[in-house]
Amino acid sequence: MLRDFTSRYRPSEAWVYDRFIAPAVATLAARVRAELTGDMPERGEVLEVGSGGGQLALAMVAERPGVHWLGVDLSPEQVARANRRARGHEERLRFVTGDAAELPFEAGRFDAVVSVASIKHWPDPARGLRECTRVLRPGGRLLVAEVDRGCRYHDARDFVRKWRLPPGGWPFALAFFRTFVAGRSLDCDEARALAAELPLSAPRVSRIAGTPAFLLAGRKR
Ligand SMILES: C[S@@+](CC[C@H](N)C(=O)[O-])C[C@H]1O[C@@H](n2cnc3c(N)ncnc32)[C@H](O)[C@@H]1O
Repeated sequence: MLRDFTSRYRPSEAWVYDRFIAPAVATLAARVRAELTGDMPERGEVLEVGSGGGQLALAMVAERPGVHWLGVDLSPEQVARANRRARGHEERLRFVTGDAAELPFEAGRFDAVVSVASIKHWPDPARGLRECTRVLRPGGRLLVAEVDRGCRYHDARDFVRKWRLPPGGWPFALAFFRTFVAGRSLDCDEARALAAELPLSAPRVSRIAGTPAFLLAGRKR
């Protein structure tokens, strides 16, 4: 992560992230889940970009029996980890390797495209968002949750306290988070400017309450 923040997760990073940090990131994913629930056709197909260990995908597929979920991630290690988790759900859940900058899918295919805590890693977020929108069908939903560079101190502190760390480890983790995670992410105004460039009706960027993150949401025109 420190070596090159924009590169895919290497095996050791994937392991650390999955074991210690992903449970906290699930609080961001919960908002995406809530937005999707009740706003998806019974048999919809969802693309998740930067799907990591596949935790959100598994939860959604278990909750929505008609939904098909495809995860794409730059890291083969993350993809392998997610596919191991998906065993037994292969008919509706699959993870493949790919880059947000050049999604290997045809235009207009998906009912929803979601992404959690990944866009800050993309070297060109505008290009990645254009790709996410390209593969959406007209009327399909785009939901992107990410850490906000302008987040409040107490939201960052509470978030880091959810990481699975040894006792007393959170002040160090907080410094790491503020410098290398939030510090290298977008803020809400930057996210709004990016959303305004996309062919979305009523795009909005709002803080996710109780977290140091924002949600970019819109529907393809
Ligand atoms: C912080 S993790 C988030 C994982 C998962 N979404 C979650 O909520 O736990 C970021 C993920 O984005 C992936 N990633 C980074 N750059 C990417 C890119 N350009 N295209 C697709 N995935 C990328 C990384 O490999 C990593 O799995």
